[in-house]
Amino acid sequence: MTIIAIDGTFSSGKGTLAKKLAAHYGFGYLDSGKLYRAVAHKALTDHIALDDNVACAKLAQTLISSDLNDPILKSGPVGEAASKVAVHPDVRAALLTFQQDFANKPAKPFKGAVLDGRDIGTVICPNADVKLYVDADPNIRAERRYKELLGYGESITYAEVLAQLSERDTRDMTRAKSPLKPANDAHLLDTSNLSIEAAFEAAKMVVDAVLNG
Ligand code: C5P
Repeated sequence: MTIIAIDGTFSSGKGTLAKKLAAHYGFGYLDSGKLYRAVAHKALTDHIALDDNVACAKLAQTLISSDLNDPILKSGPVGEAASKVAVHPDVRAALLTFQQDFANKPAKPFKGAVLDGRDIGTVICPNADVKLYVDADPNIRAERRYKELLGYGESITYAEVLAQLSERDTRDMTRAKSPLKPANDAHLLDTSNLSIEAAFEAAKMVVDAVLNG
């Protein structure tokens, strides 16, 4: 059983990379951000305050897999709200077992698992076989996200995206519980000047080196 843990900043390209690695190695893939987004979306729909730790944790405890399929989860406002509910220790605790089970007991026919998020290599799977930490220049990440949001039909300026990205980075990196940071044994990958294909090749070299001993 092989576990690949991929953490990194917002719009660094870690999700695309994780998906490609999972397809290449025949592993299951979990976008852990979706769990936080699903909790946030429920909170927004049910008019629950995002700073209400107890109520948000209840939503996290009652999440079901179909909650993860709604395309609205990809939107900018839900992502912002996700980073607010993600600061609550009880929300994180409620989502822990699901993520660890996904990593340790991949469904057939998968031979391993790739998980991406903020705390996979540090908290969820500290014993992962391979850990990657993906980052890129904030201006480049904002440009990528801006184009993505325009593609979803959202009306937003580049400057707003850059400001939100910086706020999100700060919130994710400075929260008390499970802050975003590279695990000590993570391989760092800066995708600022890499195409998706080049980032995938670089990541594959790291994974192959580990898998082939
Ligand atoms: O990766 P994504 O943008 O979908 O994540 C949304 C938010 O969920 C992040 O900004 C972060 O606050 C939170 N998150 C987290 N831990 C994870 C994955 C996501 O705190 N493992």
